Amino acid sequence: MLVNVGNRTMTAKVLLTEQQISERTTELAAQINNDHPKGETLVVLIVLHGAILFAADLVRKLNMPTQIETTRLKSYAGTVSSGTVSLAIPVPDSVAGKNVLIIEDIIDSGRSLNFLVPKVKDAGAKLVRVATLLDKPEAHETEITADYVGFYIGKNFVIGYGLDLDGAYRNLPYIAELV
Ligand code: IMP
Ligand code: MG
Repeated sequence: MLVNVGNRTMTAKVLLTEQQISERTTELAAQINNDHPKGETLVVLIVLHGAILFAADLVRKLNMPTQIETTRLKSYAGTVSSGTVSLAIPVPDSVAGKNVLIIEDIIDSGRSLNFLVPKVKDAGAKLVRVATLLDKPEAHETEITADYVGFYIGKNFVIGYGLDLDGAYRNLPYIAELV
């Protein structure tokens, strides 16, 4: 597939198939179910928009009572991180006193999560864990570790299954990398 990036054309190559994503999501859900008490409500805090597809598939496999909440960060323009992070949708008050699972699409520089995790703790969460579909360890610019990682990938920009290029391609059922 060819995609337009600014004024040039790049090739997008499938990196993770629908089936690989689905199988890995089942494994992650099993770990999360194992790590959290069955009787306690888990607040699932979905980071919009990138994590919506992953979160929708993951939450259906969780076996404790859940409460779904959303937040939104702003940090990106095109394929280059702008370096500054802010909250476009605030962390909901309902995280107070609860076990919280933040669901992210991808860790790149690590700045977004390093900004968000303390905000969730400040809002009074009892426990904060992070699940991310993708992690680019070579791109980290700050110390960051997620509790649940779907796949470790290289530095190439990826699209699909929620991840966008300037708003497009989120609906692809697979993950493709720009090469
Ligand atoms: P970080 O703050 O640099 O870790 O970036 C995290 C956010 O940047 C992610 O939640 C994505 O929205 C976006 N992002 C980082 N890398 C990619 C990519 O390869 N494709 C699409 N979005 C990305
Ligand atoms: Mg994101």
